[in-house]
Formats: sequence, structure tokens, C-alpha cells
Amino acid sequence: MRALGYATVDALVARWTGLRDDIPWQGAAPRDMAARFPLGQGAPEQGRPPGEVLDEALRDILPIASRVDHPRFLGYIPTAPTWPSVMGDLLASGFNIFQGTWQSSAGPSQIELQVLDWFSQWLGMPSTSSGVFTSGGSAANAIAMLVARSRLSEGHAALPERASVYVSDQGHSSLLRAARIAGIPDEGIRIVPSDQGLRLRAQAVQAAVARDRAEGWTPMLLAANAGATNTGIVDPLSELAQVAQGEGLHFHVDGAYGGFGVLDERGAAALEGIGLADSVTLDPHKWLFQPYESGCLLVRDPRWLSTAFEITADYLRDARAGEDEVNFSDRGVQLTRRFRALKVWMSVSTFGLSAVREAISHGFDLALRSEERLRASEVLEPVVPASLSVVVWRVRADCLPEGAPTRAAVHRRIQQTLSDTGLALISSTTLFGEDALRFAFVNPATRWDDVEAILALAETVVREEVRGGESI
Ligand SMILES: Cc1ncc(COP(=O)(O)O)c(C=O)c1O
Repeated sequence: MRALGYATVDALVARWTGLRDDIPWQGAAPRDMAARFPLGQGAPEQGRPPGEVLDEALRDILPIASRVDHPRFLGYIPTAPTWPSVMGDLLASGFNIFQGTWQSSAGPSQIELQVLDWFSQWLGMPSTSSGVFTSGGSAANAIAMLVARSRLSEGHAALPERASVYVSDQGHSSLLRAARIAGIPDEGIRIVPSDQGLRLRAQAVQAAVARDRAEGWTPMLLAANAGATNTGIVDPLSELAQVAQGEGLHFHVDGAYGGFGVLDERGAAALEGIGLADSVTLDPHKWLFQPYESGCLLVRDPRWLSTAFEITADYLRDARAGEDEVNFSDRGVQLTRRFRALKVWMSVSTFGLSAVREAISHGFDLALRSEERLRASEVLEPVVPASLSVVVWRVRADCLPEGAPTRAAVHRRIQQTLSDTGLALISSTTLFGEDALRFAFVNPATRWDDVEAILALAETVVREEVRGGESI
């Protein structure tokens, strides 16, 4: 046990200390992976020395993947776990905590309650708020949708046949999947257009709700963005909370990526009103420096969760929750649950909230500085102002004269060059119908000179692509 444990920790520390000098991503063709680990041959009948198995995992499996916590992995929404959080995950597994019931895990359940309480305080939700840890934001959004459904149908009575939900055209795809899971017919999912600044406005929601009521639909839930994945945009949350309240809709805020931005004062201003939500999705495995999987849903009234999910069974009667006890299996879809709150608790307890705030502020700083740097560039520009820690940028139109490669082609070349040189991984998107590139800054180890190196290389690529190396 010790030999394997020490070797594993040594390997993790070596990975950690070498990360900056490593490549941010390594892929492989399915054919090559299948040659190494063929299908259809059955599991090995005989075992091997654990060191040999570990070496193989370290050599042939684990590196063929993204290093999402690489300081220059700025694509999608990454995460950069702290070491105490990684150790927290190991402890949760090693102690084999079953966190479905209070009886089986009073200590861990109290820690989950405490961490959820921290989160709801950070967001300014009422002190009665609580929630449940989940595998991630998708699961939390699905639980929110099921809570809204249960509230609408007053428990488990039938859902009105024509229930409708309202999601911004900038909303995350998991909200649409969540609506499906909750049995909302596709015709009941309203993708409401955002305004020119990509924000969902009261008027657009009210118009859609009025149309639906006139046509016999029962409006159920309004979902707002607290940090849209594409752009980091935050919807006007107070304004939308008012609409939801006026229309009797469950007001859900998807803060999977951006919710923890409240810990910075610029984020608190942008996210003003988030505490008015009926439910909020947060992903500690995005901007709270946690390893996968770590998501959660907060609700104003945790009884909504138990009304939606609690079911008693004969074989679980010994574990039924007593007064004041919380069975987290009554708050979501999992009976058997791992102890996910421990990693967050260990991480925040070790570093303190002030260090967490600083790490989050670093993301804001890098995003704003990137925006400034892009505005000063002769060949690149931000597409929209930086929002939270996301910056969307592109090659300037005046660098693409007739006959030059398309903007999308130059963007692919930039991505390819960053990848081929092993410098960075960035992802692309479409905004206002046009191809764009983006940065998402959540890693405290990302330095300004990392960003500068990426942008300088991108500028060189543009010059080479467009003018055959002449300066523009
Ligand atoms: C805004 C938003 N909501 C929901 C999700 C889904 O979260 P998860 O991938 O943890 O299921 C994401 C993931 O990127 C997200 O950015």
C-alpha cells in the first residue's frame, strides 16, 4: 500500500512541478489507442506487480489527454485543482464514505451542509438556503428543472401537459437537456433572443410568456446566465428575478462557470441580484480550483429538493432521516454518493477565503489586460468587452483583404500553430455568426507573459498568413 501510495504521490508531484514546461494537450487517433488497448480480448486473468500497472497508466494512458490545469490551457472552461483538493478526493475514496444518508456519514454530511452554507452566503442567498453537491453543472441544472417541475405540479401530481421554460440563446446546452429530462416537450422550450449585448432582457421574456399564456401554455421556469460559457456574459439578474416573481416562474441562475466571480468586487457588481434566485448552479470544478467532479445546486428552500426527490423504501428504513438530519440522497438523483464537499472544504480551509478571492481576481485581471492588449493590436481585436474572465477575440477585418484566407482559416492556423509548438491550447467559437477565438482564465498559475506569448505568436501567424510575412 505504501509503495503504491508514495509512488502515486511522487508521480503527481512530478506532473505538477513539470506542468508549465509540458505540452497542454496530447491527443491520439482511435486506431492508435485501440492498437495499444484492444477491445474484444477480455480482462487479464492474472495480475501484475502494482508498480508495473502504475507505470503503464502513467506512460500510456494518463498523458494522452488534456492537461486542463496547464497555465496556458485557456480553452473551453478549464479548472486548476489545488493540491489539498486533490488529496481531499483521495481521502474521500480511501475512507470509502457513503454519503447518501446521515446515518452513514454524519461528519461528511455536516461538511456538505457547511460548504453549501458558505456558497449561499457568498451569493447573498437567504440563510434558509441549502442544496446538494452533484457531478457537475449539467446534473445541477437537471435537478433545478426537476425542482421547478415539482413546484409547479405541487409535488408529484402530473405536470401540466403544456409546460414551457425560457432559456437565453446564450444559455448552456445542458439547460436544454435538463428540460428534456424534466419531460418538457421540445415545443415548450423557448430559446429567448438576447439583446445586442448578448443579455437576456425582461421585455423579451415577458413577451414570450404572454404569447405562451395566450396559447394555453403553463410557463414554468426562467433560466438566466451568470457567466455564459461562450462570452462570460451575465444577464441582468435583478431585472429577471422581478420578471420571474411577477410571472410566477421558478427563477434559476446558471452560475456553473461564473457564480464564484462574486468573490471579486467586479464580479459582485456584475452578478448583482444572484441572491434573488430560487436556485443557482455552481461548479467548483470550474472557478473554485477543484478536480472533477464537483458541481452543486443551491436552492432558497431545501424542502423543494426533498419534495421532488424523497422516496422511502423498506430496505432503507433503518437509514431514514431523523428530525434535523439530512439524507442527501433525498435531495437529488443519487443514492450512493461520494463525499464531494471534502475537497472544497480542505482547499478553502487550507488557503483561507482571502487567497481564494485573490485567485479569482487574478482571472479578472488577466481578462481585462488581454482586452486592452487586443485593442492595441494592429491585427487582432476583442469581439465584445471581456466579461468575468472570458475574452472573445478575432483577427481584424482590415487585415483580411480580398484574396486573403478567411478569418476562420487564419483562426484555425493560429490554433494549430499554438498546438504544434506546444505553447497553448485555446478554443474557438461562433459569435454574431462569425468565427472567433476565446480565452477563459481560471488558473492562478497563468501569468501575463503566458498570455503575451500566445498573442504575440497569433500576431505573427496573421502577418505570415495574410501578407506572406510582410508586416501589416
Ligand atoms: C454555464 C455552464 N452551465 C453548465 C455547464 C455544464 O457543466 P458540467 O460540464 O459540469 O456538467 C457548463 C460547462 O461548461 C457551463 O459553462
